[in-house]
Amino acid sequence: MSSSSSGSTWSAGLSSALTAISAWNSRVWERLGARLPRRLTRDLLVGLAVGIALSLSSTQVALFFQSKRADKRRLAAAKALPPRPIELRSDEIVPGVSGLIGNTPLVRINSLSDALGVEILGKCEFLNPGGSVKDRVALKVIEDAEARGLLHPHTGSVLFEGTVGSTGISLATVGKAKGYEAHIIMPSDVAIDKVLVLERLGATVERVPPVSIVDQNQFVNLARRRAHEFGNVDLPTKGKTTEEDVVVSTQATREDVYGAPTLEHRTAYDRKPRGFFADQFENDANYQAHYEGTGPEIARQTGGHVDAFVSGAGTGGTISGTGVYLKENVPGIQVVLADPEGSGLYNKVRYGVMYAPQESEGTKRRYQVDTVVEGIGINRITHNFELGEAIIDDAYRITDVEAVAMSRYLVAHDGLFLGSSSACNLVASIRLAKTMPKGSRIVTILCDSGARHQTKFWSDEYLANHGIAIDAGVIDKILEE
Ligand SMILES: Cc1ncc(COP(=O)(O)O)c(C=O)c1O
Repeated sequence: MSSSSSGSTWSAGLSSALTAISAWNSRVWERLGARLPRRLTRDLLVGLAVGIALSLSSTQVALFFQSKRADKRRLAAAKALPPRPIELRSDEIVPGVSGLIGNTPLVRINSLSDALGVEILGKCEFLNPGGSVKDRVALKVIEDAEARGLLHPHTGSVLFEGTVGSTGISLATVGKAKGYEAHIIMPSDVAIDKVLVLERLGATVERVPPVSIVDQNQFVNLARRRAHEFGNVDLPTKGKTTEEDVVVSTQATREDVYGAPTLEHRTAYDRKPRGFFADQFENDANYQAHYEGTGPEIARQTGGHVDAFVSGAGTGGTISGTGVYLKENVPGIQVVLADPEGSGLYNKVRYGVMYAPQESEGTKRRYQVDTVVEGIGINRITHNFELGEAIIDDAYRITDVEAVAMSRYLVAHDGLFLGSSSACNLVASIRLAKTMPKGSRIVTILCDSGARHQTKFWSDEYLANHGIAIDAGVIDKILEE
């Protein structure tokens, strides 16, 4: 059949369809007209049509202005931000290792962003010199203590900390650069990879059985005690909100500290070695590191165009410090917690009650967060979590299987080799993304590299022995849900 004859058949069909519609239309008019006075009918229908058109267009106009106002607010918030301290790290010579901390890039996770239509951006904290987000905290804790006269460099002073590893590595790294030693106390079930790094960094490492915080030998309690035992006298630590938790002892004598202020006593007081408990859980310098660093960096890097911030919580410093800053400076942003199995924070955020199912009778490890994920999840409220608790909008609980699946998925699709807390953050991010309009933007934290987790989270053998399946397909399923 030629194209012209097919065209005439098509137009004949169209004209007979139009005739049929118009006949049907006049029948409807006749019937309606029989029931209502003709004039009234027409006026009513015209009124109805005009009403619908007006309401539709007024909603669209309102939405348009609303989004314009939001853009304007974002722009104003971005303009109000303090100037960027370092534009690009590679652009200048930085003053030693501490100059390498922070100002980390924000990477678009291509696989997830393309699949979701929502931008998933990761803050590359694994690029810090000590390999994790905790470098910021170590630096701030030391600088804060120095500013308050509690620590003096190159005096043989020792930083004590209870940590699952990352903070220890950061304290050892920044400590060496600034003239301090590190003594780290860790639970014995933490991946051995971190112990090895700590030893290479010259830190003293004590590994203790994982027990509850009410036990005097719990790793954090023991770190505080070790700082106290280091010296002869505990020093007063005025001017801190969590004063009772800050422990600094000195090897100077009681007379050097409290006796006559002679030059000799004064020098001994300043120069004798001190033992300082870094106390990442309760020390506000942790929160401050993120409020002054991570938060402003994210706001600047996104130009204030970010709809949600997702983070796990170990001490709570990251979610609180970054979250509070972003809430204050980015209108409408959501702050969402990613919580692993066995942690009580998910229930605390969602229902106001601190409880993890694993805490009930008859489960295997009642005294700790029962998960293969390291660094996040906790069963008590710390001061640093409390500082931001009120601004956390929602929480997602992430299973070990989901976190493991995400880590394998990211290597396969993006070439990103990340640790367990980063994987949790990304699973929570994709769950959240599925509730948000297309084009939204989520920022999360890529806390550390997979290299720190070779013997547990990244060991197929370890996971098999603990009944944790490895199935990257889990992520495809969540993306398709
Ligand atoms: C690898 C890793 N990710 C995330 C976190 C959690 O950060 P925060 O302590 O700020 O809650 C930690 C804390 O130790 C960690 O070690």
